[in-house]
Amino acid sequence: MSTQPLSVAVIGAGMAGRSHAAAYRNATTVFGLGLPPVRLAAVADANLALAEDAARRYGFEHALPSWEAVAADPTIDAVSIVVGNALHRPIAEALVAAGKHVLCEKPLAGSLADARAMVELERSAETVTAVGYTYRRNPAVAAIRQDAQAGEIGDLTLFSGRYWCDYACDPRGPLSWRFKGPKGSGALGDIGSHVIDTAEFVAGGPIVAVSGAALSTQIDKRPLPLGAVVGHGAAPVSDEVGEVENEDTATFTARFASGLVGTFSVSRTAFGLPNGLAFDLVGVGGRAGFDQHRPAEYLFDDAQPGSRSRGARQVIVGSEHPYFHGGYPMEAAGNGLGNTEHFTYQARAFLDQVAGTPEPLPACASFADALRTMEVIAAVVRSAESAGAAVTVPSV
Ligand SMILES: NC(=O)c1ccc[n+]([C@@H]2O[C@H](COP(=O)([O-])OP(=O)(O)OC[C@H]3O[C@@H](n4cnc5c(N)ncnc54)[C@H](O)[C@@H]3O)[C@@H](O)[C@H]2O)c1
Repeated sequence: MSTQPLSVAVIGAGMAGRSHAAAYRNATTVFGLGLPPVRLAAVADANLALAEDAARRYGFEHALPSWEAVAADPTIDAVSIVVGNALHRPIAEALVAAGKHVLCEKPLAGSLADARAMVELERSAETVTAVGYTYRRNPAVAAIRQDAQAGEIGDLTLFSGRYWCDYACDPRGPLSWRFKGPKGSGALGDIGSHVIDTAEFVAGGPIVAVSGAALSTQIDKRPLPLGAVVGHGAAPVSDEVGEVENEDTATFTARFASGLVGTFSVSRTAFGLPNGLAFDLVGVGGRAGFDQHRPAEYLFDDAQPGSRSRGARQVIVGSEHPYFHGGYPMEAAGNGLGNTEHFTYQARAFLDQVAGTPEPLPACASFADALRTMEVIAAVVRSAESAGAAVTVPSV
């Protein structure tokens, strides 16, 4: 394992970029003390004021005005790419060419062609290439995966997953990068990628075919922003409107390699649900359910027929669950957890991979894993374009 200090940078200081910056700051404070010293080197954003704010807030040395400045800095070792999806490929290529380790946000790229090129890049890279599927780091989600693998749910019967959000309900919401791009890059790429990855993570295998897909767009024009847009936030807008190019909502069914079948729905125009990733995994001997709106708990039932205690019970994550021990300053069940911890554990896992620590957290998803999510999404789009026909997902 290397004991040289690791210098880290974040490209993008918007909604998720700040989460990466906060996570690098916290990564050495959780789990074992095995990481080398981490130097918080730079936050870069084309909007320099945002970079400066994040750098000051999270204790990074420099605020830089472009991703090129990060690629050109020979002192920086590891970098998060946290900008709009269409920029992921050129930035990843430049960073890997400069010998840097890369943690790229999901979805892997703005197009399938770019995602495939990034997997070629990963195959020849001598550095770590990873993708940010943060829900894998939730202790409840990781516990459900373990329970399924241990057979505690029995042979799996059904996966039912949804990611319903309301960030696009307001028709005065600005036409940000999220609303531009080919079909599949809307709700499917933005939030569908998470629920597809989570499904494969807990059910233990890839989706090999989809069918019955339908896409829809509830708000097909949006006002042009007059200035910077951060995340899903409101911003001053013009009277001029532009076309929403991709889907607000999508549904489909899926078949996994194991034979398991599942149903999915995703929407960014689902009123009243700010961040509603939720799923049920049901087998012949048990069932588990998770809802990100209650991220420190899950439902579980494996009581046998005839038992008076049959019925889903609320399980509060605690020391018996993944990530709990060493993952909190106050290690006592019932104190809650959330998105900030997911990003911290992910940053720690990435730095474990980079430094080669002796007791690493489970590795991050690879570019190849994230290409598979995009292949599933492309198959969903093809199914929707052919009246819901079954479409095989190519293996990666
Ligand atoms: N894992 C998660 O839970 C999660 C959550 C939200 C977003 N994301 C992902 O993170 C990425 C960013 O999303 P966001 O919501 O933070 O977006 P955002 O729009 O809030 O922020 C993107 C930032 O990139 C900056 N930027 C644009 N062009 C740039 C350039 N050429 N050089 C440097 N900076 C540039 C913008 O100024 C902006 O501040 C996306 O890939 C998104 O899918 C992941």
